[in-house]
Parts: sequence; structure tokens; C-alpha cells
Amino acid sequence: MKSRALISLMADGQVHSGESLASSLGISRTAIWKQVKRAADEGYEIETIRGRGYRLITAVDLLEEPVILESIPESARRRVRLKVMDEVDSTNAEIIRHRPVPGASVIPVCIADHQTAGRGRRGREWQSPRGQNLYLSLALTFHGGFAMLDGLSLVLGVAAAEALEAMGAGPVGLKWPNDIFLGQGKVAGILVELQGELEEGVIQVVAGIGLNVHMKQAEDVSQAWDSLSVACPGTVWARNELAASLIDSLVGAADEFSESGFAAFRDRWQRRDIFAGKALVASQGDLAGVGAGIDGSGNYLLETEGGVTAVRAGEISLRVQL
Ligand code: BTN
Repeated sequence: MKSRALISLMADGQVHSGESLASSLGISRTAIWKQVKRAADEGYEIETIRGRGYRLITAVDLLEEPVILESIPESARRRVRLKVMDEVDSTNAEIIRHRPVPGASVIPVCIADHQTAGRGRRGREWQSPRGQNLYLSLALTFHGGFAMLDGLSLVLGVAAAEALEAMGAGPVGLKWPNDIFLGQGKVAGILVELQGELEEGVIQVVAGIGLNVHMKQAEDVSQAWDSLSVACPGTVWARNELAASLIDSLVGAADEFSESGFAAFRDRWQRRDIFAGKALVASQGDLAGVGAGIDGSGNYLLETEGGVTAVRAGEISLRVQL
């Protein structure tokens, strides 16, 4: 976004004279006029008020690295290395390109304003329009081997749900394994990508969360979706605060999971289960039954005619039977 500095100055929606903008940015008034034109080309609505200056009409919610950092509680802040980008192919891919060396204790976190090739689960694309949503990834290391992965995916869903509820989203639903539901549909999805075993029993994963914050329209989304601003209009949703709160919650949950395993998360996941008591079918295989929550490893339990069957994440996906 070429006009970022200008938009940042005008984000308060007040009238700013060309002179004051020029002096703040250290450029001429003619250069300001050109930037205003460029911002308009980028899609911002800017009113020109003769004799007074310019006013940004479009509501903006800019990502600002220092604001995010300041808002993360100290205990998590000192653990993370944050990078906020204007644009990237995928924040998961970016973390993978620059993942920490084995043994490093820092947790790299990448947030982007726009993804050109955002990736979802099962090879799907993740819609990532500029300026509207949150695209956040981090690398996490666990001692415990591959067996931890199934539970981890659900743990991160619980962490995201708890962060949103703490910020005023109201009760959040979880669709196994870790889709986050609010209002009319999915507001967030989590993609966990295994980076491999660093040494015997030490695994590194990259976890990315896409959270719809202000998005009001989207093309080519195959399932019902919603965004925070639409589902919870009573709250002013700011991406910087959301990012800080998610980082704090995800880092805290990863620590708790490392120390205590999945047991501490089972009830927290289960009480948000949107499949409980519903007639479900597996989209691969011939399995049908009623949703009965999760077992101690995070597998989903289906009450079928032949008894209770556990379904593993990654192997199968479930949907409500229509
Ligand atoms: C899903 O399909 O539900 C998972 C979506 C995960 C999207 C996020 S956005 C940030 C991170 N970067 C990506 O390319 N994907 C994840």
C-alpha cells in the first residue's frame, strides 16, 4: 500500500490541511496532492474540502507493529519476534522460509495486511483481501513427538475462541477440528503445517489463523461465513488489539499444552462443540452418526448404529447431515 503513511495520518477521519500533511511527511503540498490521488486509486474515499484540506471518509483499521507489540502482555511479548507485512504470499509460507534454527527459544510471528496466496486446509485457497481481516502465523516447537499434533490443532481453536470471547465476541462455536464459528458461519480457520522433527521427539509446526474482521463480501467462499464486525456490531473491532490478544492466547495455550497435555483443553473445546447432538456424515467414507464430542486425544466421537466410533482429524472431515 503506497499511500500507507498518508492514510495513517488521516485515519482519525478529521480534516487535515495539505500544509500540515506535507510538514508531517516531510514532502511538498504537490506531493501530498499526488498521494491523495494515489490513495483514491487504491480505493480510499477522500473528500477534498476547498480552503481546508482533505478528509478520509473510508473507515480504516491499519496494522501497526508498535501498537500490536505494546498491547501484548509482557510475559508473551518477550517471547515473540513480530513481523508485520504489507503483503505476502502466505504468512505460513513466510514463517516457513524464515523459521527459527533448532533450539532457538524465540517464537516468530508474522502478520500481513494482504495475502496473495493465502492457504486453507485441504489445499483450499483462503480469501485474504487487503486491510480487512487478520492473517497471522507463528512457529511453535513441542517436545513430545508427532502424537501431539491431533490435540494441538484443537488446542489452538480453543485459544482463538477464548481470545475472541474475552474481547466481547459472545459465545464462540468450534467446528471440529478447529473452525471458529460466530453469527452466520465460520469467522476463522486455522491451518497447522508440520515442519518435521528437529531431533528425536521435538517437532516444529507452523500454525496460521485467518480471522474475518471487517469483511462484508467475498467471492468463491464455498461455505457459510461471517466476520466479527457483522456478527458482533456492538463492539469496535481493531485488528492490532485482536492480533495482540490472539498472540497472547496462542502462546499461552501452547505452553499449557506442552506442560499439561490435551486434558486441560477437552472440556473447553467440548462446551463450544457445534456438532454435539447433530446428525453427521463423514465426507469421505460411509460413516454417519450423531455428534458425541471428543475423546482424550481430540478425535471426534460419532454415535453410530454399531456403537461409538472415533474419527481422526486429517483423515476425515465431518458435516451436518442435511
Ligand atoms: C482453514 O481452511 O480453515 C484454515 C485457514 C487458515 C488461513 C490462515 S491466514 C494466515 C495463515 N496463512 C495462510 O496462508 N493460511 C493461514
